[in-house]
Amino acid sequence: MRIGIIGAGLIGSIIAKKLVKAGHAVKISNEFPPEQLKDVEERTGATATTIDEAIEDAEVVITSVPNKALPGFKEKFSRLGENVVFIDTSNYFPARDNYVIEEIEAGKPESVWVSEQLGRPVVKAFNSLLGYTLEHEGTAKGTKGRIAMAIAGDVPEHKKVASQLVDAIGFDPLDSGSLEDSWRLQPGTPAYCTELTIEELEKALNPENIHRERSAELRDLSLQRLAGYGEKITSALGKGEYVEGFTSKHIVNLYRELFFPADGLK
Ligand SMILES: NC(=O)c1ccc[n+]([C@@H]2O[C@H](COP(=O)([O-])OP(=O)(O)OC[C@H]3O[C@@H](n4cnc5c(N)ncnc54)[C@H](OP(=O)(O)O)[C@@H]3O)[C@@H](O)[C@H]2O)c1
Repeated sequence: MRIGIIGAGLIGSIIAKKLVKAGHAVKISNEFPPEQLKDVEERTGATATTIDEAIEDAEVVITSVPNKALPGFKEKFSRLGENVVFIDTSNYFPARDNYVIEEIEAGKPESVWVSEQLGRPVVKAFNSLLGYTLEHEGTAKGTKGRIAMAIAGDVPEHKKVASQLVDAIGFDPLDSGSLEDSWRLQPGTPAYCTELTIEELEKALNPENIHRERSAELRDLSLQRLAGYGEKITSALGKGEYVEGFTSKHIVNLYRELFFPADGLK
């Protein structure tokens, strides 16, 4: 498929690399000129372009930028055809991004807000696995213990396309329902970056296992706990790397400890 990615940071680049490897035609863009993305081209095999070029003939557009950048794309996206599938990877971390969104604070699911900002139906995907997992832990379909990824959205055909891409980069897609219900895969919930198999993920998405009213608090607590590991580790994490003795397993275990119910997933 022709895929245009906006956001050439950690997640945008990892998705680009994996989708190129899976045989897709991928363009990747950022807010700055493509000439500054030579290293990203080399690492990913995707073609660096402007945002306009990345989306002009895309069948799938993937946004992988901080929330505050999203409202800026509405006008560009309004020119694209009805069949274009929009996938967004974002997570709301107001303390990390120094950006508070009152509607989300008041309980609007993050991806409902995203969809409104973009003026398009979006599929929420790629938000709930760690960068390291996305890059290194994909496996072939049918592999025992294959990690699953929840997706959410309101357009079944768009979710089908997103599911195919998720599978192509090595994860079992799990349709978790509508955008209105997508609070179940936001930071602070048991499905968020706890890297589960499909059977486990189904349980994690069960509202009985989720402290919805505490998820924002747990999200912020998780950031504080990560900061507590120290600057060396947190700056490595921002690049999707781990310093010696500290691996993605530490984060997965921290998130499971914080986000799972005390008596485990039921
Ligand atoms: N890190 C994870 O493990 C993880 C996992 C799943 C999902 N996510 C979510 O995915 C999103 C991206 O995360 P990330 O870790 O890839 O962040 P990141 O490394 O900071 O990358 C974000 C990229 O977006 C670019 N950008 C900012 N404003 C833009 C604009 N107006 N137009 C085009 N590009 C713009 C940034 O450019 P500059 O470098 O110039 O700022 C940067 O390259 C976040 O919402 C995050 O929560 C993260």
